[in-house]
This record gives sequence, structure tokens and C-alpha cells, in this order.
Amino acid sequence: MNKITIIRPDDWHLHLRDEGYMQAVLPDTARRFARAIVMPNLKPPVTTTALALQYRDRIRAALPPDSSFEPLMTLYLTDNTQPAEIIKARQSGAVYAIKYYPAGATTNSDLGVTDLGKCRGVLEAMEACAMPLLVHGEVTDPAVDIYDRERVFLERVLAPLIERYSRLRVVAEHITTREAVDFVSAAPLRVAATITAHHLLLNRNALFAGGIRPHHYCLPVLKREQHRQALTAAAISGSPKFFLGTDSAPHAQHTKETGCGCAGIYTAHAGIELYAEAFDQAGALDRLEGFASHYGADFYGLPRNQDRITLVRESWPVPDKLPYARDSLVPFRASGHVAWKIE
Ligand code: DOR
Ligand code: ZN
Repeated sequence: MNKITIIRPDDWHLHLRDEGYMQAVLPDTARRFARAIVMPNLKPPVTTTALALQYRDRIRAALPPDSSFEPLMTLYLTDNTQPAEIIKARQSGAVYAIKYYPAGATTNSDLGVTDLGKCRGVLEAMEACAMPLLVHGEVTDPAVDIYDRERVFLERVLAPLIERYSRLRVVAEHITTREAVDFVSAAPLRVAATITAHHLLLNRNALFAGGIRPHHYCLPVLKREQHRQALTAAAISGSPKFFLGTDSAPHAQHTKETGCGCAGIYTAHAGIELYAEAFDQAGALDRLEGFASHYGADFYGLPRNQDRITLVRESWPVPDKLPYARDSLVPFRASGHVAWKIE
């Protein structure tokens, strides 16, 4: 197959940042995706519906004039989030999920949740109004090896959470391990997962290929090949529990190429093309549409998109860097090629 037409996809996990940085990256996503779930880990974080509505206005104002891209907003859960805020979020019609970062787990997560026990009322309110909880699934216990943090999170946090809140809808975001695939597969239908293109295309060797590769550093960190294979099997399985979330996470070049570099990989410039590559490599291009354009919308109870995009097998070069407001951004595959192109 050298060409494939699919319903326009959505990105169910995206970092857009703010101001000039947002203006620099937004067109890449808006050109490919109809909608995106926009992550709330700004500085300061998007913790209230009022802040989410203001952020949505800034995103809309930055869109190209002919764009019909729709940002789907999220709130950042803290120890102090109140149940009334969840109700407000639901009533706004603009907020589609609540993001749970364990405090300290990743970029701008310092104000995240220290103990889910503090969020009981909020989680009950979310169950009552069917507001999904999006989970960054890694424990922060420094005694746990970084490659085991997702697996341990499943046992210590996620299993008890879905057991205790028997109606809560949960998305395990950017899963990276065979154990997470197995967990989500065995869980009730109200539990789903997003998978990034970079976790489908790379294993942890990519972090150390001939030297340290800061532009392949993200969280959860890349894992062994057997895990990449398990993620691929899940993505192409046709199970509606697994859907597309790029986790495209731009950071200025100088903040990644430094003594203590930021976590995040920028993939929005080839946001659907990279998935086409991964599915093609697995001989499963016919499964791309379900994963990219059906299952996420179905999980969120939203209509599937109406229009279509066509991808062609045509290699194109990726620049060594992209403009990023006053800085530069090194995209995934910088100075290399992407094998699929939007027609
Ligand atoms: O690699 C990542 N980058 N993982 C995250 O969880 C956060 C994200 C970011 O915001 O940069
Ligand atoms: Zn993310």
C-alpha cells in the first residue's frame, strides 16, 4: 500500500505550551488533527475552568484564520482541587478531562497530587459526571528504578484506583510497557490508554546511540525492545482501548542540550505521518484509521470527524531545527527523513 485515506485523526494527548511557543507549534497540529486534548502543565498550571477558558481563547486566537481545529481543554489536578470545580468544568462544555500528575513525576508537575487520598471528593464528582481522569502513570519513589516506575504505578496506584472508583473513566497516558498493555487489556472498558509515535518507533537504545541523545529523552523514558513490540501489538490490535496521543512536548533546544535536560520529544511536525510509518512497519496500515480517528472519539463520547486526509508513501526531509519563538526546537528525526507524507 502506497497511499491511504482515513478520517481526519485527533490527538488525544498534546502539549501546546503558551504565548510565542504555542504560536510556533500550533499550526503543525492544526494542519493534521481536527481536535486535540491539550495538556494543562503550564507555568502556572491550568487548575480551574476559568483558566482553561482563557487558555482556550489564546489557542483559538493563534490558529490560522481558515482552521477549524478544536482544542479540548483539561484541568491540572492538585491536592486542593474541589469537587465544585469538576462540576463547573463539566458545565463549561470546554473541559473534557482532568490530568493527574503525581507530584514531581515530570515537567511542571511540582503542584501535582501528593496523595490521591486527598482527592476523594473530586474523584467521586468525576465519576458522577463521567469526567475522565488522565493519568501520568509513574511512581515518584526515588528507590524505584526509573525503568520500573510505570509497572510499579500499575500495582500501587492504578489497580486500587479503578477498583475503588468503580465508575471512573481512566486513560493511562503514553503507556510504555508490556505490563501496561496487559493491564489495560484486562481492565474494564472504562479504562483506555494512549500510545505515542515515538514509543512505537524507538526503544531505549535510541537514548544512547553513539552518544547521549537528549532529543530522545522523554517521560516515561523509552523502554526495551520487547516493550516497544508489545505497544505495537496493542496499537494495531483493533482494540478500542488503545488510541493515538502524540505527547508532542516541545522544549527549546538549549533546555534539552544541557547538563540537566528537559523531558519531551517534539513530533507534531509529523504527528500522523510517524504513526503511518509505525503501522506500515508492522504491516498494519489498515488498522491506522481505527487507532487514529475512531477509538479516541468513541471513548470521549464525541462524534467521529467527517472529513478525510490522505497519506502517501513519500519520503521527506526533516529540518535540523524549527523556529520556536526566540529559540529553536529540534524536532523528532531532525536532519533525517519521514517516510509518509500528507497529500
Ligand atoms: O516527556 C514528557 N514531556 N513527558 C511528560 O510527561 C511531560 C512532557 C512535557 O510537558 O514536556
Ligand atoms: Zn504529556
